[in-house]
Amino acid sequence: MKQLIERLQKTSHLEKDEWLALLNAENDELRQYAAELAREVRHSHYGKKVYIRGLIEFTNYCKNNCLYCGIRAGNPNAERYRLTKEQILSCCKTGWELGFRTFVLQGGEDPHFTDEVLCDIVQQIKKEYPECAVTLSVGERSRDSYQALFDAGADRYLLRHETANKAHYQSLHPENLTLENRMECLQNLKEIGFQVGCGFMVGSPNQTNECIAEDLLFLEKFQPHMVGIGPFIPHHDTPFAKEPSGNVEKTLYLLSLIRLLLPKVLLPATTALGTLRHDGREQGILAGANVVMPNLSPTDVREQYSLYDNKICTGDEAAECRYCMQRRIESVGYEIEESRGDHISKQ
Ligand code: 5AD
Ligand code: FES
Repeated sequence: MKQLIERLQKTSHLEKDEWLALLNAENDELRQYAAELAREVRHSHYGKKVYIRGLIEFTNYCKNNCLYCGIRAGNPNAERYRLTKEQILSCCKTGWELGFRTFVLQGGEDPHFTDEVLCDIVQQIKKEYPECAVTLSVGERSRDSYQALFDAGADRYLLRHETANKAHYQSLHPENLTLENRMECLQNLKEIGFQVGCGFMVGSPNQTNECIAEDLLFLEKFQPHMVGIGPFIPHHDTPFAKEPSGNVEKTLYLLSLIRLLLPKVLLPATTALGTLRHDGREQGILAGANVVMPNLSPTDVREQYSLYDNKICTGDEAAECRYCMQRRIESVGYEIEESRGDHISKQ
């Protein structure tokens, strides 16, 4: 198995049965070995730098009903909020002063944010902070809509594919959401010129190693600029309330394998990883991740952006999150980099 990992490092390619073998054989030794090689690769491209992104969770209204997600339309207990343009700009101001040069606007699929409304917000951010990158994470929209957002100045787009296996996709989503449409959205985003992020949850209900092998094959084919992966964590008001959480070790193993598959990828150590283990994000960095996304949302709405239970950082001010993250990163020998942190191919 170690030879397979070495070959992955050299060629950034494995066949499906080889991925499956690596996933099925997961143990401490392999995980450590994959992390060691992943750090080597990461150091050769990014040194010890960790990029920071300021996350602004600007609406928890959502028209969709994904079975795993706490802000699904069908959750009557979710207390809904949406930030005004002024509130969003005020988050950016705080973020700018704290050294953030990327703002990630993330929200549910909220029909209030039409192209007109969202483009205006993006334009205003880019006007006030021309040196910053704007990343959007607002779900599935039409190609024309993506084009309008790009033309308004958005630089990057995060849209996790969630799973590359059709049957698995259908078991996580209601019928009106299809893998086919998700893939078309991702393709459109790439063609328009965004730096694009896809990704998936580790340990979501019905996920098998075969599903994950298909995810990895998809990553190789799609060549995203960013990959967001984190453990699944149940939310008490969803159909998956009683399902077990994803596994932290497996998530770390996958971070390392993804670093070897896509050597230059921007790979965040996610909040979900930090939620399941106190030092999850630090361990993520040591496994090959090179991005963290501290929260810039106003503290009074943080609790409400609840995709899963026990999410961390809901009580902390932006500055606290920023410096907490810096301490954590330095504690494992890495350093925060205050720049836009574009993908190497787009610098
Ligand atoms: N646990 C972990 N991650 C989740 N997401 C949504 N719900 C959960 C959950 N219960 C992830 C999805 C989505 C991203 C914004 O958050 O992958 O794409
Ligand atoms: Fe909002 Fe899935 S519940 S996109």
